[in-house]
Amino acid sequence: MVTIRVPLLEQRDASYDILIGAGLIRQLDKILPEYCPAAAYAVISDSHVGTLYGASVAEQVSGAGCQVELFTFPAGEWNKTRDTWASLSDRMLAAHFGRDCAVIAVGGGVVNDVGGFVAATYLRGVPLVQIPTSLLAMIDSSIGGKTGVDVPAGKNLLGAFHQPRVVVADPELLASLASVQLAAGLAEALKHGVIADAEYFAFLEREYAGIFAKHAPALEHVVRRSVEIKASVVSHDERETGKRAILNFGHTVGHAIEATSKYEVSHGEAVAIGMVYEARLAESLGIATAGTAQRIKSALERLNLPVERPDASQVDALVAAMRADKKVRGGEIRLALPRAIGSAHGDDANGWTAVVPEAAIRQVLVNT
Ligand SMILES: NC(=O)c1ccc[n+]([C@@H]2O[C@H](COP(=O)([O-])OP(=O)(O)OC[C@H]3O[C@@H](n4cnc5c(N)ncnc54)[C@H](O)[C@@H]3O)[C@@H](O)[C@H]2O)c1
Ligand SMILES: [Zn+2]
Repeated sequence: MVTIRVPLLEQRDASYDILIGAGLIRQLDKILPEYCPAAAYAVISDSHVGTLYGASVAEQVSGAGCQVELFTFPAGEWNKTRDTWASLSDRMLAAHFGRDCAVIAVGGGVVNDVGGFVAATYLRGVPLVQIPTSLLAMIDSSIGGKTGVDVPAGKNLLGAFHQPRVVVADPELLASLASVQLAAGLAEALKHGVIADAEYFAFLEREYAGIFAKHAPALEHVVRRSVEIKASVVSHDERETGKRAILNFGHTVGHAIEATSKYEVSHGEAVAIGMVYEARLAESLGIATAGTAQRIKSALERLNLPVERPDASQVDALVAAMRADKKVRGGEIRLALPRAIGSAHGDDANGWTAVVPEAAIRQVLVNT
């Protein structure tokens, strides 16, 4: 087992550990009393993962003799809503979960986000344990304390920061994950390589076949290195006022592709496409070295990810969606861009995003 600490500088007592190791899912009877003792546990999961893993987690925890109940909701991004949050909270209230309870979120990013938001708000906040089960959840959504739901006006617009007590990432659980979901997580992994570690990027370029074949050492390396990178970035900037912005590489165009495709394109796929356009933009602005975008594109293709905007995402609609992004400030479109493979553009003095003229964005979206 590997333990990666997320030291939160602004809020030291909320610092937490991410435990990574094959078989950890069977050791919760030891992990929970140590990291998150509670009188009762509400296990929150979705309809797929609840059957695969949620029920056995609940069974294992109830062996320790405390109140445990499994609450599931139908799987899918379209269920990451206020209604799901309300229904889960109401069911916990009806089952008389009190302030001495904790929430265990077992699932992909949707469960991490909605289960985390229930924990953040239930009786004004109860402790949270994240057990991510998709690659994207292990290396991204379970780390950093962001929780929330989607609303008709946009994704993730209601939520709260709520740090987990511990994150338990067991790569064995990825055995049941569909390849398309694995690829979606790999888009974020490749992003970590671009913004922080050229050697890791090269590993993903080289080892893609072993990763798709789910060879344990390859998968464990991906989970470990990506967690290290994300944990190190968020621990310096819990509330996203500085360096954390670099994690948004690929996401400004990516979110616009998600929205304009009416979420037909998944988050990971949209980020893959977004990284290609944003890297081309960085090259056209003289920020990134020549060839950066082409190398990202080739690597994404090996990872079975799309690299071109779909027909549904026309340029005007994309630009309008980018302007509606919650990160737009004062009408300026700001993007987190790479300088080269392994290095993000920006610094603490001048900021970690670049203001990009709309004309330059249009040119890249039209011409390529
Ligand atoms: N909070 C954050 O910082 C953050 C960061 C990135 C993404 N997100 C959010 O994460 C969500 C995407 O996460 P996701 O891609 O994990 O989606 P998801 O939770 O919908 O999972 C994808 C599908 O895989 C299934 N699944 C999950 N684990 C499985 C397993 N081990 N075996 C078989 N099936 C499994 C799920 O049931 C679901 O059907 C989005 O809502 C996004 O906004 C949040
Ligand atoms: Zn993302």
